[in-house]
Amino acid sequence: MNANLEQIKQEIISGADGLNSSKEVYEFRKQYLDGKSGKIGLLMREMKNIPNEEKAAYGKGVNELKEWALTFIGEIDEKMKAKELQDRYEAEKIDISLPAVENAEGNLHPITLVKNEIIDIFAGMGFEIFEGPEIETDYYNFTALNTPQDHPARDMQDTFYLSPEFLLRTQTSAGQIHVMEKKQPPIKILSPGKVFRSDDDATHSPMFTQMEGLVVDKGITLCDLQGMLDEFVKKIYGEGTKTRLRPSYFPFTEPSVEVDCSCFQCGGAGCKLCKGTGWIEILGAGVVNNKVLENCGIDTNVYSGFAFGIGIERTAMLKYGINNIKLLFESDINVLNQLNDK
Ligand code: DAH
Repeated sequence: MNANLEQIKQEIISGADGLNSSKEVYEFRKQYLDGKSGKIGLLMREMKNIPNEEKAAYGKGVNELKEWALTFIGEIDEKMKAKELQDRYEAEKIDISLPAVENAEGNLHPITLVKNEIIDIFAGMGFEIFEGPEIETDYYNFTALNTPQDHPARDMQDTFYLSPEFLLRTQTSAGQIHVMEKKQPPIKILSPGKVFRSDDDATHSPMFTQMEGLVVDKGITLCDLQGMLDEFVKKIYGEGTKTRLRPSYFPFTEPSVEVDCSCFQCGGAGCKLCKGTGWIEILGAGVVNNKVLENCGIDTNVYSGFAFGIGIERTAMLKYGINNIKLLFESDINVLNQLNDK
């Protein structure tokens, strides 16, 4: 009997030499230790055929063999699994000295950068954002802004009409009316957005971007406008920049002004950018015409306001030294990479 157990033990020892994977170890273990079909399992089942006086010794012998086999094969299994893990690590090893695959990094378009910068500056002064529709009625774009039919000022802007009533807005000033119709003062809003005009040359595009500003409250004057714009130009063009107001005409403001800032390139001495004048025109503005306030049901005995309109492309062209507006719309990656503030 002992010879039989010893034979199985030797068989296990020599059989283990040929094992090459944890899967093979698993099958090998089953071959001997499976309760029903394993060789050691079957020895246990033999118990009933063993004479009573030999049963104890037989059982002990089989159990010892079973314990030994469990430990022996268990150790092989552990070693095999550790080796397999190591092999996997080797196979998946990453060479960190290899040059990285470079992904092109995107950045915001200069128009978006300038728009965000202007919004940041005015948001710091307490302005809220209102975005009006790009398709407007004649009323919001012109009539309510004190520019009725046949008003000569309509010729200042070549309008894309969609019908006699509807048009593509030519100015974000239309947003002023929407806001004042909905809300009584105090009002302090910025209205950014696309505007459209039948105009196309090196500095004009049929679609461009404006940013409207409107403040309506008690006792607002032109001084408040200039105070705010002084802050604005310092932040966007540099600390030393100053503003200057020149009389102008817009139907929705009275008085109306054209705002210049001192040339941020030559500091006012005169250069190519400011065409030798030391000043650069940056926006139109003025005190809100009483007629506009009245059109929106705002009491002009109590309230007054100022408004301004900034061209974003123009601001971007000045800031980045671009002389052709088309460069902002062509999406040439070589140009856009140069206009990155990052
Ligand atoms: N809407 C004008 C334009 O498109 C710009 C403008 C001028 C806006 C004066 C204003 C303003 O609010 O007060 O040319």
